[in-house]
Amino acid sequence: MPGQDSVLIEESIPGRLRADHFAQHGWAHGRLSVPTEGSDWEQFASAWDELVPDPYLGEERCRRNRRFGRVLAHRDGALEPLRGSDFFQSKEINRAFGGRLRVFEPLTDAVLTGPCLPRLLRETVAVVNEAAGKQDWELGIHFIRVIADPGESSEPAPEGRHSDGHAYVAIHLIDRHQCAGGRNQLFRNNESRAQFSVVMTEPLETLIVSDTTMEHSVSEIRPEAGTGSGWRDTMIVDFNRVPVPEEVTGRTYGFIR
Ligand SMILES: [Fe+2]
Repeated sequence: MPGQDSVLIEESIPGRLRADHFAQHGWAHGRLSVPTEGSDWEQFASAWDELVPDPYLGEERCRRNRRFGRVLAHRDGALEPLRGSDFFQSKEINRAFGGRLRVFEPLTDAVLTGPCLPRLLRETVAVVNEAAGKQDWELGIHFIRVIADPGESSEPAPEGRHSDGHAYVAIHLIDRHQCAGGRNQLFRNNESRAQFSVVMTEPLETLIVSDTTMEHSVSEIRPEAGTGSGWRDTMIVDFNRVPVPEEVTGRTYGFIR
């Protein structure tokens, strides 16, 4: 029966990201098939060197750089970049950063229209559509680098165990650089035992979760012993249902081919 397994699974070699597992359990872990070698990938991953410090951090033990973009993923497969890079979560959803509008630096046009991001988005959207039914989605796309300096640790998600107020959330690992920690855990709502726990190490290793029925957390990172600063690069994609595409803000009617 769906939802009744309670086995904590740890996989070290992820297989393909499977829509049937996602549909049955509300989460899935696996790899996308987009190549993570060659100049296209290297150019894409280098976008994480161009992120800017998160201006909304306060006393939290967290150092991170980021950018944010929005894309309307049409049910026919078309991807339409949206104007505007503001992001809002309620205080109830995000106790650390909710209750205020956050406006992040946007993703660059080169990244949005380059060869990698559209492929990544299409593959992730296809998994969600296969599990949830083909529909229009507003995607929030977060490029995030969490940095830990020598002698320090850094929390990727200072809000702790949480959900983000979306329908689904995909967490893609892009790269790790001489850092330890960063363990992801997935929990069903109101359950203390984790359904899944993993330290993602492979580029495009991915977790996808139902954000309405599950919560997630990620542990702090720290530099590996004897090294300089360490960091962990992720791309997080929020899926929000779009009942009426005409009402989505920032429509551009320009499509990524
Ligand atoms: Fe989250």
